[in-house]
Amino acid sequence: MGHNSFYVTTPIYYVNDKPHIGHAYTTILADVLARYHRLMGEATYFLTGTDEHGQKVQQAAKAHNVSPLEHCNNTVVRFQELWQRLGITNDDFIRTTEPRHTRIVQAILSDLYERGLIYSDSYKGCYCVPCERFFTERDLDDGKCPECRRTTIELEERSYFFKMGQYQDQLIDYIESHPDFIQPAHRRQETLGFLKKQPLGDLCISRPKARLSWGIELPFDRDYVTYVWFDALVNYISAIGYRSNEAQFKKWWPASYHLIGKDILTTHTVYWPTMLMAMDVELPKTVFAHGWWLVGDTKMSKSLNNVVNPMDMIDQYGVDAFRYFLMAGMSLGQDANFTEKIFVERYNADLANDLGNLASRATKMIERNFAGQMPPSAEIGDDERVLADLCLAAADNMAEAVKNMQLDSGLASVMATIREANRYFDKMKPWALSKAGDLATLGKVLRHTMECLRIASGLLYPCMPEKMTILRRAMGISEDALAPQLPRLRQWNILPEGSKVALDEALFPRAEYKEEAAKEAQTSKAASAKGKNKEKTAGKQDEATPAVISIAEVGKIKLQTAEIIAAEPIANSDKLLKLQVRIDQEQRQIVSGIAKFYSPESLIGKHVVVITNLKPAVLRGVESNGMLLAAEHEGVLRLVGTDGPIASGATVG
Ligand code: ME8
Ligand code: MG
Repeated sequence: MGHNSFYVTTPIYYVNDKPHIGHAYTTILADVLARYHRLMGEATYFLTGTDEHGQKVQQAAKAHNVSPLEHCNNTVVRFQELWQRLGITNDDFIRTTEPRHTRIVQAILSDLYERGLIYSDSYKGCYCVPCERFFTERDLDDGKCPECRRTTIELEERSYFFKMGQYQDQLIDYIESHPDFIQPAHRRQETLGFLKKQPLGDLCISRPKARLSWGIELPFDRDYVTYVWFDALVNYISAIGYRSNEAQFKKWWPASYHLIGKDILTTHTVYWPTMLMAMDVELPKTVFAHGWWLVGDTKMSKSLNNVVNPMDMIDQYGVDAFRYFLMAGMSLGQDANFTEKIFVERYNADLANDLGNLASRATKMIERNFAGQMPPSAEIGDDERVLADLCLAAADNMAEAVKNMQLDSGLASVMATIREANRYFDKMKPWALSKAGDLATLGKVLRHTMECLRIASGLLYPCMPEKMTILRRAMGISEDALAPQLPRLRQWNILPEGSKVALDEALFPRAEYKEEAAKEAQTSKAASAKGKNKEKTAGKQDEATPAVISIAEVGKIKLQTAEIIAAEPIANSDKLLKLQVRIDQEQRQIVSGIAKFYSPESLIGKHVVVITNLKPAVLRGVESNGMLLAAEHEGVLRLVGTDGPIASGATVG
């Protein structure tokens, strides 16, 4: 089962969201792995898709005056088009609204219910009608809703629960005896820490239709729909034939990799494995949680207006450059920083200067001196040996890197061969050899350079399929070998003599990063988001501003202490919260992108520091007057407060 087959998945993304570089990253990573495994001759299956049920879709559909399914149909194309544009070779695209999925979710639910693994119980809590949320007594603020401060009602509701808790010990044992199950190791520790800290409760898997109707109906109670995660996770098996096509299911399951971001670790390493245990299905081999793409070291957020749209990058720099940057720029498991400036620097250094330039210089000289025909096989001296060894080692390194999920280091070792070839080229001075008419030596230098490019282009092919196809064709490689045969990337000096060499275009034209233009775009984007006119001066001022600022400039920013008195989520945003803060006598509303880090109820009563003279802005249709200060590091965010109690409205500075 699952022998010699490679099955890789991405999260199924929320259909309602606009894809950004984070989504693109996981999907490109899966694509590069799938392409590499196909080259290894392994049977490979690559699944991605969209998560289409739940409150947010229901609300957005209502706002657009269409049915939820229509809304999904309208938005799913954003993902499908982007994946097409990015050259993603997924074998399937699953949508959780498809009958092939909903049927299986219901079959699983029925089965677990019949076997007593799902039970109904009543849940008593304090319910806030306008907020549509349950709270425990403890959550309440003076008996009132901690979000809107209105009176709550005591409500008893029947719910269905999955007996997740009973698998706690089994899961801990499994994780401890399968070190590869959760990667990287620090994520494994995180899950183990969570599991060992407290008893694992049962999981509420139902929502009453009266509150949420957009979901998969519970087969044993038509008044309820299934909790979205219990529905979504099943996609990994419903798509490959669980309970519908046993042969296909056996072929691919257990998955080799569920690739996820660190944000959804618990659902994938606690909910999902216990669900599978209950179903008597083997667990996936590895859940791999990669790090976070940050923008200029801060989290991407709509409120900061720094969300990177992959389409913009592709339009400007090309698909392959974008794929390369994302793969080379993140050490798997750690966070990485994306800015257009860093992107352009890397693009120019690795792709335009090192790789593109070498390809262009070598092919041009073959065109000029050898009538565009590959020079004959040549002897290997010391210099050639160094180059050959490095290239052959790169092939090994790449294989290891794919196995160990260290693509960035595999790519780095390919780039090291290109740099070495550039050194070799410069040292041998082929232009001088050409001038002196030493065609034998010139042929040798060009051939060995091309050998390096052959191996490098083969190793880079899964990451940059379009450009490497062009390059490989340009060195006379036959059409059927453009997708490389991996064993040939471990051989040297095998390019056929006389094959046609011609590169008609610059592979990676040099890019220019226009700081001014970028800043202006940013400023006008921010201004238009606020419904204001463009403020063209901001970028210019920045340029003139030295790295240190004067005390007068510090004084321009008015910082004051404040107390948070109410907080609530904002519809259609999983990042923003609407806060009411007290600043001395005044009450203000501030929209803050901290929803991922703080629940609304946990914020009430917190003493924070606010920039109070920030120009008002409208975010998601909600007015914001000021900004909360927060510190962020590696995905952890903490609000800035004062050392001890002090009145709200106090000046900070
Ligand atoms: O969570 N950096 O979907 P989602 C890197 N529907 N990766 C990022 C990222 C960033 N800044 N932002 C997002 C869901 N991602 C559920 C999943 S699966 C059964 C259900 C990537 O649309 C990363 O892979 O919020 C993350 O886990 C995923 O997008 C979350 O996508
Ligand atoms: Mg998310």
